[in-house]
Amino acid sequence: MGFLIKRILLLYSILNVMPVHKFIVCSYSHKLTSGSVNWQSPSNIALVKYWGKYGEQLPMNPSISFTLENCNTKTTLSYEKRSLSKASEHKEYEFQVFLDGKREISFEPKIQKFFERVEVYLPFLKNFTFKIETSNSFPHSSGIASSASGMSALSLCLMDMERQMQPDIPECYFFEKASFLARLGSGSACRSLNGPIIVWGEHDAIEGSNNLYGTKYPLKVHKNFSDFQDTILLVDKGEKQVSSTLGHELMHDHLYAEQRFRQARENLSKLIPVLENGDLPAFIEIVESEALSLHAMMMTSIPYFILMKPNTLEIINRVWAYRKSTGSHLCFTLDAGANVHLLYPLGESKTVLKFISNELSELCKNGEFIVDQVGKGAIKF
Ligand code: PMV
Repeated sequence: MGFLIKRILLLYSILNVMPVHKFIVCSYSHKLTSGSVNWQSPSNIALVKYWGKYGEQLPMNPSISFTLENCNTKTTLSYEKRSLSKASEHKEYEFQVFLDGKREISFEPKIQKFFERVEVYLPFLKNFTFKIETSNSFPHSSGIASSASGMSALSLCLMDMERQMQPDIPECYFFEKASFLARLGSGSACRSLNGPIIVWGEHDAIEGSNNLYGTKYPLKVHKNFSDFQDTILLVDKGEKQVSSTLGHELMHDHLYAEQRFRQARENLSKLIPVLENGDLPAFIEIVESEALSLHAMMMTSIPYFILMKPNTLEIINRVWAYRKSTGSHLCFTLDAGANVHLLYPLGESKTVLKFISNELSELCKNGEFIVDQVGKGAIKF
C-alpha cells in the first residue's frame, strides 16, 4: 500500500499536478449568505510569448507582458447560499453566465472546467448558486481574446468572496492567489491583474518570478516605456482558427520546441537591459522576433497553420517601410491570430495615428482599430 501511494505521489510530481498547498484553505472564519462582487480586469499583450505548457497550465518558458488600459472585462459575480438541507447533495456547480445581459450558454463549459480545476483551492464553490455577468470593453466579434481579462476578473471576484470569509488574508496573498486561479482558467490570464509590466514563469535574473502566478516586473524600467501605446488593428474578427489549447499541445512533439523555449528565455534576458536603458531599436528587434517566432511555431507544427492573413503581412511591410523612411520607433507584435498590435512611444502618437488612419486602417475589417496603452491593472468597482 505504502509503495502504491509513493508511486502515485511520484506520478503526480512528475506530471506537476500536485495541489499547491500555499493556496489551499481548510476553513473560513466568517459565513457568507448572498451578495455580489464586481471586478474589472485588463487584457495584456506579451512582449516575450508563452507558447507551450506542461502539467496543470505551467509554462514551458517565462513570458513578459504589458498590461493594457482600455481593453478590459467587467464582471459581476452574484452569489446565494444553497439550502443547507441539500448541502450534502451538492454534487454539481450551479451557475449561469450572461454576456452583455444575455445568457451565454456557450461560455458555460469553460467555466465548468475552470470550477473543477480550482475547487481544491476554493472549497465553497458547490455551496453557492452563482450568476456571472460579464461584458467586454471591446466588441465580442473583434477577434481579441477575452479569456485573459475574463478569467482574471472572475478569479478576482471569487477571491473577493474568499476575503469576506477570511478577512485577514494579506493583500499580496489575495493577488497572488487570484493570479494563480486565473492561470488555471487560461494561462496568460495570470498576467492580467496588475500592471504595468508582468512576468510569468521562472527566470533566474528576475526575483520572485515563478511558474504558478504572474508577478510585477521588479527591475528598473526606463521612462521610454512608461506610457507606451498599443493600437490594435482588427484584421480578422472571426473565430480563432486554432484554439490556444490545440496550439500549446502542438508544442509537445514539435521539432523546434526546445530551441523555441531557449530562445524565449534568452529574449527575456536580453530584454532586461533594454527595459532599463530605454534602447528602442533593441526593444523592436526582440518584440518583432518574438511575434514572428510564435507564428513560425504554428507554421512548422503538424498539423500546420498560417494564422496571418494577407493584410497582416501587408501591415508588417508597411510598418517596416514607415520605420525606414521616418526613423520612427513603431513596431508590431502578434498574438495567435491575424490582428496586429502596434507598439510605440506616446511621443510619437500624433504621427503614428495619422499613419494608421491614412495607410493602415484600409487593411482592417471595416477600417476598425482600437487605441490602447500600458495600464495599471484590475480595479474593484
Ligand atoms: O493564455 P492562452 O492559453 O490562451 O495562451 C495565449 C498565448 C499567447 O497569447 C499567444 C501568447 C502570450 O504569451 O500571451
